[in-house]
Amino acid sequence: MTQLSAAQKPTDSSSRALYGGKGTRRITVRDISAAKERGEKWPMLTAYDAMTASVFDEAGIPVMLVGDSAGNCHLGYETTVPVTLDEMTMLSAAVVRGTSRALIVGDLPFGSYQEGPVQALRSATRLVKEAGVGAVKLEGGERSHRQIELLVESGIPVMAHVGLTPQSVNSMGYRVQGRGEEAAQQLLRDAKAVQDAGAFAVVLELVPAELAAEVTRVLHIPTVGIGAGPETDAQVLVWTDMLGLTSGRVPKFVKQYADLRAVMGNAAKAFADDVVGGTFPLEEHSVH
Ligand code: KIV
Repeated sequence: MTQLSAAQKPTDSSSRALYGGKGTRRITVRDISAAKERGEKWPMLTAYDAMTASVFDEAGIPVMLVGDSAGNCHLGYETTVPVTLDEMTMLSAAVVRGTSRALIVGDLPFGSYQEGPVQALRSATRLVKEAGVGAVKLEGGERSHRQIELLVESGIPVMAHVGLTPQSVNSMGYRVQGRGEEAAQQLLRDAKAVQDAGAFAVVLELVPAELAAEVTRVLHIPTVGIGAGPETDAQVLVWTDMLGLTSGRVPKFVKQYADLRAVMGNAAKAFADDVVGGTFPLEEHSVH
């Protein structure tokens, strides 16, 4: 029998870095747990379409969230509240098709899991079966633990989301969460509740950095911060904010790595000027 050399042997999933690692197979939630054990930090970006997702996949982003932030960043709604499960299924399927390595997490939109565990299972099953996501995300700590338990029991990995939960904007607003002793204790209880229910990771949105650091120390599942300081295991940004495509003000916690709005706007104007001035198309763009 031919012996495989060390280099040819498939590597153990726990030994490959999520970002910068050599593996090409799709990342799973087991790889995410192994990264926490190694103390490895990792990046997550949102994605809402196949082409953008393929760029991030080629860049090595290991986890992509088809967030319901698609509502305000992709579909033109004012908040995430109107987003439907049909829309999330369509967007998630596109992101899965555009990627081959990243773990794709599909967001359960408002109204698709609040009725209870059975509704949550029905909705999550659509994202897994029709879109092909590897995990789902839902908002809420203690209030969502029964939903998380049933999904995990049914074989669907769940990323939880506590702190600021944008689907509750009508009751909560967009304010920092977990400030003050009582609110901090509630946030800790929420984070522990989702871990106990079986979530493989938890997003901490807009919470004081010190509190996020404490939650990260206490939990054995990874924390994914957005506006939660530098100590969380992972960081997520909304891609349109991160690349400067969002119009108007972006939150203080966003770092802009490019100004795509200017790049695209200038390119569109250059095209328009060429057409109006008769300098496009030229002979080299023409067929005879
Ligand atoms: O919908 C989303 O993009 C999110 C992230 C901000 C975590 O929930």
